[in-house]
Amino acid sequence: MISQLEYALKYIKYWFFAKHKKGHGIHSPFIYKLIINVLNNKSNDETLNKVFDVYNKLRKSKEVLEFDEIGAGTSYKKSEKITIGKIVKRSSINRKYGKLIYNLIKYFNPTEILELGTSVGISSAYIAQAAPRSNFKSIEGIEEKIIIAKETASGFKHHTEFIHGNFDNTVDSVLEKYDKLDLVFFDGNHKKQSTLNYFNSCLEKRHNETIFIFDDIHWSDEMEEAWAEIKNHPKVKVSVDIFRMGLIFFRKELSYQHYVIKF
Ligand SMILES: C[S@@+](CC[C@H](N)C(=O)[O-])C[C@H]1O[C@@H](n2cnc3c(N)ncnc32)[C@H](O)[C@@H]1O
Repeated sequence: MISQLEYALKYIKYWFFAKHKKGHGIHSPFIYKLIINVLNNKSNDETLNKVFDVYNKLRKSKEVLEFDEIGAGTSYKKSEKITIGKIVKRSSINRKYGKLIYNLIKYFNPTEILELGTSVGISSAYIAQAAPRSNFKSIEGIEEKIIIAKETASGFKHHTEFIHGNFDNTVDSVLEKYDKLDLVFFDGNHKKQSTLNYFNSCLEKRHNETIFIFDDIHWSDEMEEAWAEIKNHPKVKVSVDIFRMGLIFFRKELSYQHYVIKF
């Protein structure tokens, strides 16, 4: 992981050089509509507000969880008491990006959805609420977190299938249960080779309209390198870098292009 200062400097650079916030200068109708209808969607509906309420509640939770951290991601000091509130503040997607995923799903309407990295179920709640009739599975390696994620989901109607297991030995068997993947959210184990392995495995189930979302693409040098390889993969037609996340599209009708869009 890079230092907070380095990350802040990267963000400042992004903020100065990223463009197209309002879609100006974009020639692709597909990306223009994505900016207008998804990235710039300011409205909140009742369902989204419900997820925000759950997020706000869990951020304040003082309940202590005891577990051994896995994968490259948030690390805690040995002596530190890890509360659910800390987990949410440090590693769950915040409201801005939660809303983005929610709006993205509402807009593209995927039904075959996979998440790598459930944690305590915040991003899962946005996904499940945006796609209530989807086949949505979410994998997490720490059982204590899955228990909380199930509690988080219990306040909502959608049935998310939470799967406990290390990605390294669960992803392939979980993928066998899908004929195709419409959307994958990659948000766990931010090592370069692991990220590329998960990408390559999921690639097998992609189709023309599939969307891959990668979290923390600038979080470390390894993630930067993984992102660079992924966006330049010959099967990828368009990548969209919004700093914290990267979106990948495979649509044959699009021209090869990498966008860095101010979000
Ligand atoms: C950044 S958190 C996920 C946050 C969640 N997507 C959200 O926004 O609410 C990443 C999660 O991936 C899990 N993880 C990391 N490496 C893993 C691995 N190799 N197998 C399974 N889970 C892993 C961690 O335990 C952690 O809970």
